Amino acid sequence: MADLRSDTVTRPTPEMRAAMASAPVGDDVFGDDPTVNELEAHVARLFGHEAALFAPSGTMANQIAMQLVVPAGEELLAGADAHVVTYELGAAAALGGISTRTWPSRGAALDVDEIAAMIRPAGYPSVPTRAIAVEQTHNLGGGGVVPLATLHRLHEVAVNAGVALHCDGARIWHAHVADGVPLFAYGQLFDTLSVCLSKGLGAPVGSLIVGSAERIARARQLRKRMGGGMRQVGILAAAGRYALDHHVERLAQDHARARRLAEALEPFGVVDAAEVRTNLVPLDLTKAPMDAPTLVARAAERDVRITVMLPRLARAVTHLDVDDDDIDRTIEVLSGLLRAA
Ligand SMILES: Cc1ncc(COP(=O)(O)O)c(C=O)c1O
Repeated sequence: MADLRSDTVTRPTPEMRAAMASAPVGDDVFGDDPTVNELEAHVARLFGHEAALFAPSGTMANQIAMQLVVPAGEELLAGADAHVVTYELGAAAALGGISTRTWPSRGAALDVDEIAAMIRPAGYPSVPTRAIAVEQTHNLGGGGVVPLATLHRLHEVAVNAGVALHCDGARIWHAHVADGVPLFAYGQLFDTLSVCLSKGLGAPVGSLIVGSAERIARARQLRKRMGGGMRQVGILAAAGRYALDHHVERLAQDHARARRLAEALEPFGVVDAAEVRTNLVPLDLTKAPMDAPTLVARAAERDVRITVMLPRLARAVTHLDVDDDDIDRTIEVLSGLLRAA
């Protein structure tokens, strides 16, 4: 079975499991877990920030970070296709009382002037904008990478307007590898970041919120309030640390495999291979005679698993547990189905 549904389906490697088994642990709610403390300090350093906080999921990390920078009843700007808007089940409003206003879906191709024009300053009879959230890489945007120059321009806009900039960096490692931008170069542009260890890096669980020491102290309280205070969680932090040490640079292989898959499927008019820069391969079936649920079901019957994103959008994802043979098999099966259709 070639499982390309998501980069979250990876299983810990034997070496990662060994690191987990031997990790020193303590009660992290008391701040006693040395493995968690070390991971948090390490990730803060990677991004050039003062502090970081381990959280159980990317969603919780995003939501805590956004609550840090947007008070209840005030406004966050984000893309209509952002994970924080589309897939977090209204958490910004439901949990943080945050009012969200969106720019049209553009994936990673941000229009900085458009975003700048949306900012509403405080002091007027309208909801004040407090933060802008961007996604790196962009999930619904097919794993697209926001160029560093665009982020610099957005940073300048945010600083001039006095609003915070948050990065949903679930796959920021992929951007770092694809564009060769150091993680700290991204870090210095954002007030808060959330980064995931369980998407493509191979850790079973875990995300971190990155920011100033003051914000992370507050984040610790918000995490507890949301039920995310964990105890001997160094067992999981050890997996994350192992992943950071061993599984970042190898993402280039996942990107190359994704590109090979996209190039093979391009003749069917479902993907533009040049747009595939990282590990996500979106399959646009708007002009195909088969919708996404049908393609996904038929591929599964042939031992290839991909996923439905929208009625006419499917997605294949490369990751640690996908090898060249899996790509060959996926190309054979999907080409066969698209050709037959
Ligand atoms: C861009 C992005 N942000 C956040 C998340 C949320 O992560 P989690 O599933 O750990 O809550 C995901 C999950 O796929 C994602 O793709």
